[in-house]
Amino acid sequence: MSNGDVNHGRRRFLVGATTVVGGVGAVGAAVPFVSSWWPSAKAEAAGAPRRLNISKIDVGQRVTVEWRGKPVWVVRRSQEMLDNLDGISDRLEDPESEEPQQPTYIDGHHRSLKPEFLVVVGICTHLGCSPSFRPTEGAEGLGNEWPGGFFCACHGSKFDLAGRVFTGVPAPTNLVVPPHRFEDDGQTIAIGVDPEDAA
Ligand code: FES
Repeated sequence: MSNGDVNHGRRRFLVGATTVVGGVGAVGAAVPFVSSWWPSAKAEAAGAPRRLNISKIDVGQRVTVEWRGKPVWVVRRSQEMLDNLDGISDRLEDPESEEPQQPTYIDGHHRSLKPEFLVVVGICTHLGCSPSFRPTEGAEGLGNEWPGGFFCACHGSKFDLAGRVFTGVPAPTNLVVPPHRFEDDGQTIAIGVDPEDAA
């Protein structure tokens, strides 16, 4: 073996050792961050509630928040939107929400604790696409009879502005209403807790 061979081998070793030390250093530097974000990630995994200040949501607007990795929609319904929930029962698969797609304290055709605010998981009950928000009556492509609602372009499922599924579409059930309650004198919606849960 020549000196040149020895030096090349040593250089390869040193380069490798430096890389490993550098890697250890990077891991060591990352540890403080890991310890600081871990509790919230753990809480998230355990289903910590999400809170949303609803005082600034405009009438007719939809806001999306993430809860347990899912999109949850909060819609502030106008009186016109609420009026459009009436008189369409014969076009709906489950107008009275008899399937267990909502907590037991959610009833009525509004499917909400307060008629003004709809809270639903924004995932189509057919195969899991996320429907689009089509709140306008007679929206283009949805027919003159469209009362406003949600349209899933994946396979054509339609839901009204209470998340109730129309008949004759692939989705079998209404959109899911997650547990939720109002807090702070109605200024906040907490998603993931029931009204009777401890504060
Ligand atoms: S996933 Fe929505 S219609 Fe199929």
